[in-house]
Amino acid sequence: MASDGVTDLAGGDILDVAEKIRKVDPSDMLGVLSSMPGQVRDAYSLPRPKLRIPRPASIVVLGMGGSAIGGDLLGACLLEKGGPQVIVNRDYDIPAFVDKNSVVFAVSYSGNTEETLSGFAQAKKRGCRIVTISSGGKLNELGEAAMHIALPKGLQPRAAVAWMLVPMLGVLEDMGVADVRTDVEEAAGMLEGMMKELAPSVPASKNLSKEVAAELHGTFPMIFSGPLMAPVAKRWRTQLNENSKMLAREDILPEMDHNDLVAWSEDPMAAHCAVILLRDDAEHPRVAMRMELTRKLGLDRARSVREVRSRGKGTLARLLSTMAVGDFSSVYLAVLRGVDPTPVRVIEKLKKQLAG
Ligand code: F6R
Repeated sequence: MASDGVTDLAGGDILDVAEKIRKVDPSDMLGVLSSMPGQVRDAYSLPRPKLRIPRPASIVVLGMGGSAIGGDLLGACLLEKGGPQVIVNRDYDIPAFVDKNSVVFAVSYSGNTEETLSGFAQAKKRGCRIVTISSGGKLNELGEAAMHIALPKGLQPRAAVAWMLVPMLGVLEDMGVADVRTDVEEAAGMLEGMMKELAPSVPASKNLSKEVAAELHGTFPMIFSGPLMAPVAKRWRTQLNENSKMLAREDILPEMDHNDLVAWSEDPMAAHCAVILLRDDAEHPRVAMRMELTRKLGLDRARSVREVRSRGKGTLARLLSTMAVGDFSSVYLAVLRGVDPTPVRVIEKLKKQLAG
């Protein structure tokens, strides 16, 4: 861990001193996260292709990492709207059922991710309608100009999640798959309020994300949710991985009760874990009951257990509000650990080595 004077201070002290945060977060990941409400609004107004497929047989999102999570969130939004199932393909090959009646979104912030480019080439061969979404790169060159959604440059892919998610919602809205205008407005408004609550200027005693960061510091974080919030649980985990540079894990109830719970009730490692339960008012009443019982029968053996509840009415607001708490927590945790949240050097190194 870096020893730069900053990290020698106690957790609360570091998170309440703006200058200290700036020192550990020189590329201002916190500032980028704060732009989320604007991202949501601006992404909804981006020019987007108009597709004429009244009822697509499938909706497939090709993407990896920070560019794939928007596909998971899209799937969760459509679930409650009765839209078609969304398949997020994090692979080189696309499933055999993908054909000319599928709508394919090829999403890569850089436009150069090899798995996404491989999936794109296969979808093209099968005659699929492909909307490409990138800030440049090969995807920009290979996609049809009229089917391309161009993103602003200069962000980390994971910090551009709204730029990638919202235009997909817009394309599907134009096709008549789901009405999202009100949801987008609600989500942007909700996030605006949350940015004020989670901002670095709000002291640790009143700032949920700073509290969460202090609680997760020095633990192995485990994030659990019901099925609808699963993309957000994954996002929490991946933000802890990439921003806080920490190992973390997520799982979903009710499935975890059929495996994980056994370990929770017996493994001494539980005492090193900090649990976050992502709760949602729309979760199945039996899942709600399971959350309580799972706590009593196993999770209470963890170092800490905290519930974070979604806010808002529409699915998009509920997903993004819960995501925002995790995003900010991951950066505050990076500050506590003395690690710059922005760079992901080892991913870049791997991509270079793969490219030979
Ligand atoms: C980096 C990040 C990564 C990338 C992934 C795919 O911020 O989140 O998970 O998203 O390596 O790269 P892109 O998004 O450029 O296709």
